[in-house]
Amino acid sequence: MLKQLLRTKPILEHSGSGLKKCLSAFDLALLGIGGAIGTGIFVLTGIAAATQSGPAVVISFIIAGIASAFAALSYAELSSSVGGSGSAYGYSYVAFGEFAAWVMGWILLLEYGVGAAAVANGWGGYFVNTLANFNLHLPAALTKAPILGGLINLPAFGIIWVLTILLTIGVKESARFNNIIVIIKLSTIAIFIALASMHLNTDNWHPFMPFGWFTMVEGGKNIGVLAGASLVFFAYFGFDAVSTAAEEAKNPQRDLPIGLIASLTFCTIVYIIVSALLTGIVPYTELNVPSPVAWALTKIGYTWASTLVATGVLAGLITVLLVLLYGLTRILFTMSRDGLISPVFSEINPDRQTPTKIILVCGLIVSIVAGFIPLGELAETVNIGTLASFIMVCVGVIVLRIRQPNLKRPFKNPWNPLIPVLGILSCGALMGFLPATTWIRFGVWVLIGIVVYFAYSMHHSKLKT
Ligand code: ALA
Repeated sequence: MLKQLLRTKPILEHSGSGLKKCLSAFDLALLGIGGAIGTGIFVLTGIAAATQSGPAVVISFIIAGIASAFAALSYAELSSSVGGSGSAYGYSYVAFGEFAAWVMGWILLLEYGVGAAAVANGWGGYFVNTLANFNLHLPAALTKAPILGGLINLPAFGIIWVLTILLTIGVKESARFNNIIVIIKLSTIAIFIALASMHLNTDNWHPFMPFGWFTMVEGGKNIGVLAGASLVFFAYFGFDAVSTAAEEAKNPQRDLPIGLIASLTFCTIVYIIVSALLTGIVPYTELNVPSPVAWALTKIGYTWASTLVATGVLAGLITVLLVLLYGLTRILFTMSRDGLISPVFSEINPDRQTPTKIILVCGLIVSIVAGFIPLGELAETVNIGTLASFIMVCVGVIVLRIRQPNLKRPFKNPWNPLIPVLGILSCGALMGFLPATTWIRFGVWVLIGIVVYFAYSMHHSKLKT
């Protein structure tokens, strides 16, 4: 039994899989940026500044960025040396064996699925607001989940379907679409930076750290810069989706590390600048609104720019959704190919060269969650999953250096095991700053996964002897 749980997969060395190899390092970096810059910087910055960090939200971003950087370096080492499109799931299969890999995959499903549904909800809110600016109004019942007194959040439901269809058309087309929208998104950020820097009032940065470093709050959100870091960490989730595209990269050994590190560095710089400016142009106490960046521009007198930026944010959230859905389908695809879930899901459509069935199933489930459940409060649940997967990847680097010292590593971290150890410590600390309720939800999800493993996956695994 123990032998079964610990059975490992051989390293694939980026062998052929039937998926089209068409993504360059530039496409991969934009995939990471497209997946990362979104709700975190555009919405959560305001919430964290107003309720947890104050103007020191910029420090929260730096702390979360440093933890992500250690993880990114570990991802780069594993993605350049271990094959497969399963991300932390695939690496766990090679390093720790099947059971740990299953639990990892199960956590990734929560992370990507709930993450996509939550971002779709945010998109729906912006969409309704933007329509209202043009005097167009959807019936209220079609903009809210039943729990909030509506029938369905139709914009959130609809956007998932539009993107699902796009993904079934083919990955290159989707990557091209992603590149264009990332450029629009970055332009709107540039407009914000240009206008906000002319209205900086450093008085707004005092007091800089009104909530201190960390205070635990019973049954609610913890406060302080460190608690803020564990919330805005959501802004970094997504760049790791680059590693799920390993089998579609033209030259994975070289391009994956470049894509991962370039996108993370770029995002960190953008987050520092945007959060510093946002808290520098309006008092942090006023930032707890659904669209803080657009709202701050209105406040300093740029209504036209506010509408323009809100439109850019809408486009930006689309790329986040696209990357999350893409990552979700590829993780499921790989788990199915390994026999841990039904083989139906790893069939590739011969005309389109994409796993059409799995994309449609993902679209269906995520659209229902997005349309019928208000998921705003679940950002922290997504974060705990992401942090767990980052830790697993860091541990994976250390284990593989011991188990397979001679493995070809085109990207190798210096001073082993310093970087992964720092990754484990920093991500572990961020997990510790999350509220108790988040830990309970996470625990329940993992337990369900364990039951599914013993009931189905274990008996259908391709590694079964
Ligand atoms: N990092 C992504 C966002 O902030 C998930 O929306």
